[in-house]
Amino acid sequence: MLDFRIFFISILFNLANARVDYSQYVNPLIGSEGPIPGYAFGGGDIFVGGAVPFGVVKVGIDTWEDNITIATLNGGYTPKGKVTAISMMHESGTGGFPKYGIIPQMPLTTIKSPVNLLDNQTYWQTRVGDDIAKVGYFKTQLENGVTIELSGARHSGIMQYSFPGGEKYVLVDVSHYLPSATGGYSNQYYIGGEIHLQEDGTYTGYGTYGGGWNEGAPMTVYFCGDFDTTPDQMQTFRGRNTDPIPRYHTFSNGGIPQAILGNMSEYAGPLNDRVGALFSWTNSITSQIKSRVGISFISSDKACGFKNSEIPSWNLNDTVAAAVQEWNQDVFSKIQVDTSSFVNQTNLVLLYSSLYFMHLMPSDRTGENPLWDNREPYFDDFYTLWDIFRNTISLYHLIQPDYYTGMIRSLIDTYFYEGFMPDGRSGNYNGLVQGGSNADNVLADAYVKGLREGINWTRGYEAMLKDAEVVPYNTFSYDDPTSSVKEGRGALADWLELGYISADRSSRSISRTVEYALNDFAVSQVARGEAPADVQKYLNRSAGWQLIWGHDVSSVNFTGFLAPRFADGSFNITGYNPALCGGCEWSDISYEGTPFEYSFTVPHDVQTLTQFMGGESEFERRLDYIFVPNTSQQDLGANGAGIDTIMNIGNEPDFATPYLYNYINKQWKSVQQSRQLANQFFHNATYGVPGNSDAGALNSWLIWQMLGIYPIVTQTTYLIGSPWFSDLNMTVNGNSTLRITATVSGNGNGTMNGGDNGGGFGQEDFYVQSVRINGENWGRNWFVHKDVIINGGSIEFLLGSEPKVWESGGEVPPSPGHVVL
Ligand SMILES: *[C@@H]1O[C@H](CO)[C@@H](O)[C@H](O)[C@H]1NC(C)=O
Ligand SMILES: *[C@@H]1O[C@H](CO)[C@@H](O)[C@H](O)[C@H]1NC(C)=O
Ligand SMILES: *[C@@H]1O[C@H](CO)[C@@H](O)[C@H](O)[C@H]1NC(C)=O
Ligand SMILES: *[C@@H]1O[C@H](CO)[C@@H](O)[C@H](O)[C@H]1NC(C)=O
Ligand SMILES: *[C@@H]1O[C@H](CO)[C@@H](O)[C@H](O)[C@H]1NC(C)=O
Ligand SMILES: *[C@@H]1O[C@H](CO)[C@@H](O)[C@H](O)[C@H]1NC(C)=O
Ligand SMILES: *[C@@H]1O[C@H](CO)[C@@H](O)[C@H](O)[C@H]1NC(C)=O
Ligand SMILES: *[C@@H]1O[C@H](CO)[C@@H](O)[C@H](O)[C@H]1NC(C)=O
Ligand SMILES: *[C@@H]1O[C@H](CO)[C@@H](O)[C@H](O)[C@H]1NC(C)=O
Ligand SMILES: *[C@@H]1O[C@H](CO)[C@@H](O)[C@H](O)[C@H]1NC(C)=O
Ligand SMILES: *[C@@H]1O[C@H](CO)[C@@H](O)[C@H](O)[C@H]1NC(C)=O
Ligand SMILES: *[C@@H]1O[C@H](CO)[C@@H](O)[C@H](O)[C@H]1NC(C)=O
Repeated sequence: MLDFRIFFISILFNLANARVDYSQYVNPLIGSEGPIPGYAFGGGDIFVGGAVPFGVVKVGIDTWEDNITIATLNGGYTPKGKVTAISMMHESGTGGFPKYGIIPQMPLTTIKSPVNLLDNQTYWQTRVGDDIAKVGYFKTQLENGVTIELSGARHSGIMQYSFPGGEKYVLVDVSHYLPSATGGYSNQYYIGGEIHLQEDGTYTGYGTYGGGWNEGAPMTVYFCGDFDTTPDQMQTFRGRNTDPIPRYHTFSNGGIPQAILGNMSEYAGPLNDRVGALFSWTNSITSQIKSRVGISFISSDKACGFKNSEIPSWNLNDTVAAAVQEWNQDVFSKIQVDTSSFVNQTNLVLLYSSLYFMHLMPSDRTGENPLWDNREPYFDDFYTLWDIFRNTISLYHLIQPDYYTGMIRSLIDTYFYEGFMPDGRSGNYNGLVQGGSNADNVLADAYVKGLREGINWTRGYEAMLKDAEVVPYNTFSYDDPTSSVKEGRGALADWLELGYISADRSSRSISRTVEYALNDFAVSQVARGEAPADVQKYLNRSAGWQLIWGHDVSSVNFTGFLAPRFADGSFNITGYNPALCGGCEWSDISYEGTPFEYSFTVPHDVQTLTQFMGGESEFERRLDYIFVPNTSQQDLGANGAGIDTIMNIGNEPDFATPYLYNYINKQWKSVQQSRQLANQFFHNATYGVPGNSDAGALNSWLIWQMLGIYPIVTQTTYLIGSPWFSDLNMTVNGNSTLRITATVSGNGNGTMNGGDNGGGFGQEDFYVQSVRINGENWGRNWFVHKDVIINGGSIEFLLGSEPKVWESGGEVPPSPGHVVL
């Protein structure tokens, strides 16, 4: 009886939650453009189209940008690029080279010469007018007069083509994928496929594709499509593959051949031919053709099943409405703020759009794992944990505990069946590893915060030990032939022998030393529960970063930096400038950040770090310095986003850095600096995020900023910031509520509902004056998970316009990995 009542109440609660249509605040185009108008280059690389939270299908347009040197096609969408197809699978926010853009359709109004079905350049289309993107819905118009509308369900999508009259075709080119003009070794490639037609226009088959940024093994995706109006004619086609794929049969003697038309079935055959089909409605009077396509990694029967069950209606609006409902209920309603007109509407857009983008990846492929057969949840498109381990996963933990438990189980299961947990994983394949084995951090973060149910932690700890102790085989990647970039810790041999990564034997020696240190701290955190005898060993190893601290290295008036050290123990500091990294690439001393930045990234032992930098005042002076304009010496390239400070919010390593003032009880400076970054770089605009959104990592950083708290990964600690809304209820741990409120102290500069900004308070009223947690006066600038997350709780902020050291009596945040070597 009691159980039933709780169930009933929770249903009512969910219904109430879902009643507000938060999806109206989402702008799905934030991040779709970079600094050069019309180009995606340097922007968020986001996916734009129809999708559900963590959906397998992300249906949207694939495009080609005319300027090859800066073409960026990663999410498929570009602001002005030519449309080559509508396809079912995409990544969102990734840099590097494209992955997916597969299982396509393309509406055509003619197939007369010069159109060649095998040559996308003969039929690709520029767009006219402005694209429209909403949650679960996308619309664009092609130059040939066709209007495309689409929506997505979990494993399927629906397209609606409004033709201008006259001939109507839909082309299905199984060999289509998102290309890269400059990818070379990292290009995707098509290996083969089949397509079979049925009399009513239903088509099934599969395509096999490999490569992409993660250097993925071939994967096979089955499909099943149909049309609301039976085609008047349909034909398959095939043709020799001319894409230059190493070690595959391709035909390179004089351009792209003409398609050879076939009848009802087509196989790529031993020469890996391209295959496809063309559907026509030449005589049909209807001007609108709709199509549904399902995909599966298991079989075309399953793909048909998904299509039929997930999209039972031919009314596009029904699929849109279902997607909106799911987003509202499962995602947006987890963070409820006042949406009335006196609340700054831009902030609502930033909040709900950020929630949207952080739920596009990874993909929940439970039941769709072609590699091994068991009942464990299966997630793919961790692209990558390097991006999302720093705070995205901690937000999943709070608002998506079920999905998050599934992700952890999937990581552990991948270890069990494939030997290593992934750092990046896409297309059912581990890769690439940019630094450490950061699944360790993800597991530790979940573990210390008490996530247990359904997770085999014995095996989880085993997986972490594998990362910590076993050198993965070298994949001889073009990116870095010195060690594995597939999984595990490529430079582990150095780490085990020397306790640090040497600059002469290994690439990325500085960033990988720092990351391996945190990975070993993560191991020690889980060892506390799973293998207490191991704790000290891994704690000691987590201090390895101290071994490459160059105590005498100076740069712009600061002394003491991480520095390159050789295997023989000597430092290589002649001519060393920690503010430079070469290109911050695979072969450089540090990855996507300078040693100056990485010298702040030791979250487990800020205490030692502060000492090494010369004590609290020097630590503070150095922090102040990295926010000073024009201090960056490194050319940040495509990810630059106009950033001219050493602090680079466009790349993940610096995510926690603006909050480090909390560690010297100067919380007001954390608030000032982090809020300044948010205001400067995050906007409700197409160029609204500073560079690749990285699977939503940049977006989740902004959400924490707006919540007024920031998690320290692998620890139970949350640092206190300053919230952007006056009242916010967050559903945490499944069914508890964390309420975060803010009132403004009575200084005449803003009242609760009177201001024209923020959640009803003035632009300047963001400095914390005092904090109460669960009704208690809170004397320190941090709290721990159990304080307000497990059973919910409240955080009440009193804000004002004056900076205040309100936490002076309190202990600073802990350094649980404090080790004196
Ligand atoms: C391509 O983009 C680069 C970088 O913005 C620019 O220098 C070049 O002029 C562009 N080329 C064309 C043909 O637009
Ligand atoms: C167009 O098709 C050719 C031939 O298959 C392929 O090499 C190229 O990458 C495709 N381009 C786009 C933009 O899809
Ligand atoms: C082509 O398909 C049609 C059915 O659409 C069938 O009647 C015909 O025999 C097929 N032709 C060949 C050569 O297979
Ligand atoms: C779909 O929704 C749009 C916008 O709400 C509406 O204008 C249109 O009439 C609807 N179409 C159908 C077929 O219900
Ligand atoms: C938060 O929850 C409290 C308690 O249920 C409620 O009074 C308040 O209106 C809620 N605030 C928002 C913004 O939903
Ligand atoms: C956010 O940007 C979109 C697109 O420019 C615009 O339509 C919308 O009005 C903006 N929202 C707010 C609250 O400014
Ligand atoms: C948990 O993992 C351990 C170690 O791999 C294994 O021995 C055990 O059988 C697993 N337990 C369950 C319930 O699967
Ligand atoms: C170093 O400090 C001196 C004295 O405080 C100052 O004049 C100089 O500008 C500083 N140099 C840099 C590069 O910040
Ligand atoms: C030592 O450092 C210098 C300057 O930073 C660099 O040019 C050189 O390649 C380094 N030597 C080795 C062996 O890494
Ligand atoms: C809340 O969720 C937890 C875990 O799912 C469950 O044990 C508990 O009974 C739930 N409480 C209520 C009030 O629904
Ligand atoms: C409001 O804030 C400004 C600057 O933040 C300050 O100069 C002014 O004195 C404040 N006004 C009142 C009435 O406190
Ligand atoms: C709303 O907040 C944004 C920052 O997110 C700020 O730029 C804008 O000025 C605010 N709008 C108003 C009307 O205060």
